[in-house]
Amino acid sequence: MNVVPSLAKEAVTASAPAKVILFGEHFVVYGEPAVVIAIDKRAYATVKLRKDERIHIDSVDMRMSGSFKGAKFQAEKGGAKACVKLEPVKNAVQQVLAAANKKTGLDITINSDIPVSAGLGSSAAVATSTIMAASRLLGIELSREQIFRLAYESERLVHGTPSGIDPAIATYGGTLQFQKGKDFDSLNVEANVPLVIGNTEVERSTGELVAAVRHMRERHRYIIEPIIKTGGRIALFAVEALKKGDLESVGDLMNVNHGLLSAVGVSHEALERLVYAARKSGALGAKLTGGGGGGCMVALAEEKKLNRVTTAIVRAGGTAFQVRKTDEGVRVEP
Ligand code: PMV
Repeated sequence: MNVVPSLAKEAVTASAPAKVILFGEHFVVYGEPAVVIAIDKRAYATVKLRKDERIHIDSVDMRMSGSFKGAKFQAEKGGAKACVKLEPVKNAVQQVLAAANKKTGLDITINSDIPVSAGLGSSAAVATSTIMAASRLLGIELSREQIFRLAYESERLVHGTPSGIDPAIATYGGTLQFQKGKDFDSLNVEANVPLVIGNTEVERSTGELVAAVRHMRERHRYIIEPIIKTGGRIALFAVEALKKGDLESVGDLMNVNHGLLSAVGVSHEALERLVYAARKSGALGAKLTGGGGGGCMVALAEEKKLNRVTTAIVRAGGTAFQVRKTDEGVRVEP
């Protein structure tokens, strides 16, 4: 960790991208490879020093705010729910304060383009950008590896056993082949990968879905284990197809991957409606993305069919938006 000269700035803003998991969610929890892409929607964290020792957090888009004094939370907006949602941000800054060996209060303001609780990595993008902004404000320069570790740790404190895929992509950006406990590979994907995200707006909890898959695996180990392994093989074939720019194969593999996720019980009828609508309107492939059980799906489509696929998802009851991959991970904003 380098100490940088004390900053003249009294506020630092950093941002980090959202993500879509193209292959391997859930199976990644059991050590299989997954493929994840950073997309051009970002969370922005602005951090300022306070005169007292409180950590005050204002999440503008979630309309939640309040302050932590030690473990005690005082809500301003959003009531008791605000404590649960803002706690990972508090954990993130506390870790930076410990790393910088400083005891000071901080004001953190979060603005974000990323839909929350939708499987797009909003909380990791918020934690990662907060860590970057707070560390710069406090005069320490963390490596990307250190930012990833701190963001992972603050997620772990809240969610138990996350794979780490979300903080990894929020930190590094681009396209990653990710495997729990191994170094990530940044993939060189030159092809444009035109994607449409469809949001069912059905709320769900990733933690509960991860637990449901674990339960299913315990009850039917000989059936579920091979499905998990096949999920990993799909991700490896997808890596080759992405590198070659063979989007037709990528689409086929997305469809098969979705079938496996349905088989382990993490789809939802609202997701199925959007996935089928996308395929029927000409998408090369479509699947749920992230934890499932609601949240979002992702469709891959040729450029000329993007609008048609987007409209079909909306007609099937979702909200939809087109996204591009972005190479930029966490960064300090000018
Ligand atoms: O729903 P999200 O964006 O939190 O994605 C979860 C991905 C899982 O593989 C289901 C869980 C994990 O920790 O990797």
